[in-house]
Amino acid sequence: MNLAGRWPPLPPIDVILLRNVMIYFDLETKRSVLAKVRRVLRPDGFLVLGSAETTINVDDAFERGKFGAANCYRIHLPRPGEGAGHRFGKTVSRPNVRGD
Ligand SMILES: C[S@@+](CC[C@H](N)C(=O)[O-])C[C@H]1O[C@@H](n2cnc3c(N)ncnc32)[C@H](O)[C@@H]1O
Repeated sequence: MNLAGRWPPLPPIDVILLRNVMIYFDLETKRSVLAKVRRVLRPDGFLVLGSAETTINVDDAFERGKFGAANCYRIHLPRPGEGAGHRFGKTVSRPNVRGD
């Protein structure tokens, strides 16, 4: 599957491993791929990237934690009325989650 192209219909996914894959994409493509990741990743799911990769300043809907040497991200998705989410042991505010 070409991550930079159109994704086929996928069921909700618990873990997406893109270690050392995002480094090949330009910023626009990274944003497009991460928007697609958000659409298929379960709210409590994990996105794993390589140590040289990040969602920071690319897609603010993700929060970073550590998973061994890899960077692990979860989507900020506090439930309606909850006000803030709690991920990786810290409080996060409701994100601006965009589709594409
Ligand atoms: C450096 S390897 C990393 C492989 C593995 N994830 C790891 O960490 O060992 C980069 C991988 O990205 C894949 N890749 C690059 N561009 C891609 C794209 N547009 N769609 C899907 N895979 C892509 C390549 O096929 C290759 O398997």
